[in-house]
Order: sequence, then structure tokens, then C-alpha cells
Amino acid sequence: MAIKIAVLPGDGIGPEIVNEAVKVMDVLNRSFGLDATWQEGTIGGAGYDVDGDPYCEATRELVHASDAVLLGAVGGPKWEALDKPLRPESGLLRIREDLGLFANYRPTKVHSQLLDASTLKPEVIDGVDILVVRELVGGIYFGQPRAIETVDGERRGYNTMVYTESEIRRIGRTAFEAARLRSNRVCSVEKANVLEVSELWRSVMIELHESEFSDVELSHMYVDNASMQLIRNPRQFDVIVCGNLFGDILSDEASMLTGSIGMLPSASLGEKFGMYEPIHGSAPDIAGEDKANPLATILSVAMMLRFSLGRNDLAEKVEKAVENTLDAGVRTVDLAFGGETSVGCAAMGDAVCAALEELA
Ligand code: IPM
Ligand code: MG
Repeated sequence: MAIKIAVLPGDGIGPEIVNEAVKVMDVLNRSFGLDATWQEGTIGGAGYDVDGDPYCEATRELVHASDAVLLGAVGGPKWEALDKPLRPESGLLRIREDLGLFANYRPTKVHSQLLDASTLKPEVIDGVDILVVRELVGGIYFGQPRAIETVDGERRGYNTMVYTESEIRRIGRTAFEAARLRSNRVCSVEKANVLEVSELWRSVMIELHESEFSDVELSHMYVDNASMQLIRNPRQFDVIVCGNLFGDILSDEASMLTGSIGMLPSASLGEKFGMYEPIHGSAPDIAGEDKANPLATILSVAMMLRFSLGRNDLAEKVEKAVENTLDAGVRTVDLAFGGETSVGCAAMGDAVCAALEELA
């Protein structure tokens, strides 16, 4: 039976980058025997504009009837003045919560062809291969109570960072299992010297390690130190596991090791669903200009093939096609660090498709 994929382009550069990923899926169908079909839905600001809701019922039904979701990006200045529940970001948080996507995999792999694209020295970043495992449906993003209220004539805003033992165990297990397939090392990142929620996080990670994963090396790091170590000596890391907010911040930081946030794909996994998206945002400043880098979205298709569709073989082909495209010197403007000529988003997508066809 054909695999059903829900495609949610979203806002800003979302439609352009997703379009290139869809071209890649077309090649997989045509030349590699993938039997996938897809249907588009709205999300984020695009959803608000059409349905008055950044995660509307039609999209909800579509994703629940699909095997996997491919998402572009959400957000933009156009929707910033809306009430919070109507803003594009709320749509993204709601779909993550609705599909129970508690584990967010954000791999940072430095491509040797792009060593000079990073603002860091090549000798520091050569060989970096880090997987950030970010908890995605808990922590301060979702904790109650939260509000802005007025007390004694002054406004006061607050959020709550909360994790239960079972939430920590669930993401911890995911990280240990991922590490077993890589270099077998997990670094758990929190702020246990200050926050109770982190104190619990650390002790649950230690218990879990002792009871089920003593074959994996576990270390602990405070988030401030971790953000420094990521720049000082990124090769020391294999898997980094952390809560929602710290993972949001550290994964953006880690992305710059690769030279461009435009290179980083992600997988958000639940018990049965997977959603795949680039980690970068909607980049409204370059939307519609054919300047965006579609590689993060194309690499997200590879993650979808691997984690949701059981086609590791095809995932490897897509990743190889991206490597070969970079080897051939094709660069979007974010990667053209040394004044090389760059191509647009569509031409980059076409180049990857051509490289993929060659692997058929
Ligand atoms: C991300 C983004 C989102 C987040 C925003 C757009 C809600 O920054 O996926 O990292 O904070 O999770
Ligand atoms: Mg982010």
C-alpha cells in the first residue's frame, strides 16, 4: 500500500524548500521504487490566513491519516500582532503536542566540503558529529502556570519549567538507545546547580543509566558550560540530551558548527508518528527570492525514510546525493563563504535530484 505523507509547507521560505524536497520524493518514486503519495495541508501563518487557525481541523485530520509529516517552517512579521494562540508558532507547538512528538533529533554533522563555511576554525570542527536529543512536548514550553498578569499596578510574566520522572525517563531512554547506534556516549545537559527540575532530571538520568544502560557512557553538564564546550571543543560530544528550552538553544548553537543553519534537518518522534522539518525558521526576509538553502529539508526527507518509512537504504542514497552535490561545488548563498558563485533554491534542489538519479 502506498505510503501517505502529509506535506505542510507553512510560511516564509517554507513553500520553496518543501518544493525541492518534494522533487526529491518524486525521484525516489520514479527511480527507486518508493511508493509514496502526499497531500498538502496548511500550518502556521498560512493556516491562519486560510482557516483562521494555525493548526486547523483539516490539517489535524490529514496528519492523523498519514504515515509521516514533512513540514517547512512557520512564522513571520505578518502574524506577530495576533493573540498568542493564533500565532504561527502555536500551530507548531500544537501539532507536536497533538502527535505526542516527545523526542526531537537534531543531528549536527560537519560536512568536510563546508569546513571553511563555519565561523569556527576548521581544525576545531573537522569531524564533528553530534546528535542533540531535545525533549519536545514538556518543560517550560508547556508548563503550567504561565501568564502575564498585573499585580499592584505592575505587569508580571511567568512560565513554569516542569518535568515528571516518566517524561525524563522516556527522553533519556531515547537518547541512550540512539547513542548505542553511534559512539555510545550521552551527555545530559541541565542546570542542576540552580533548578529543582534539573536536580530531578539528573537523578532520573543516573537511575536509568544504572538500571538499563550501564554499557553507555553517561556524563552530565550544566547548560552554561555545555554552550561554551560546544564552541571550545565540539568533538567531545556524541549524543546530547536535554529539555525543551535548552535543546532549542543548544541546537541552534550547534548548527553554526556546520557553517549554516540551512544544513540541519530534524526528526520529531512519538510512539508511532514522525514529523520531519529543517531546524531553521521561515526566514521571511528572503522568502520568495529563490535564495533559501533546501538541503536541511531534503536531509529531513532522509530522516523520514530512515525513521518512519523503514527505508534506511534510500535515506543513505539521499544523503549521498547531497554529499555529491556539495562535492561538485554547488552552493546556495549561505554556503558560498569564499565568494564562490551560488545557485538558487530551485537549482540546488535540481542538482540534488540529478545526483540522486545518478545513484539509481
Ligand atoms: C524550533 C523553533 C520553535 C521552537 C519555534 C518556532 C516555536 O525555534 O523548532 O526550534 O522554539 O521550538
Ligand atoms: Mg529553535
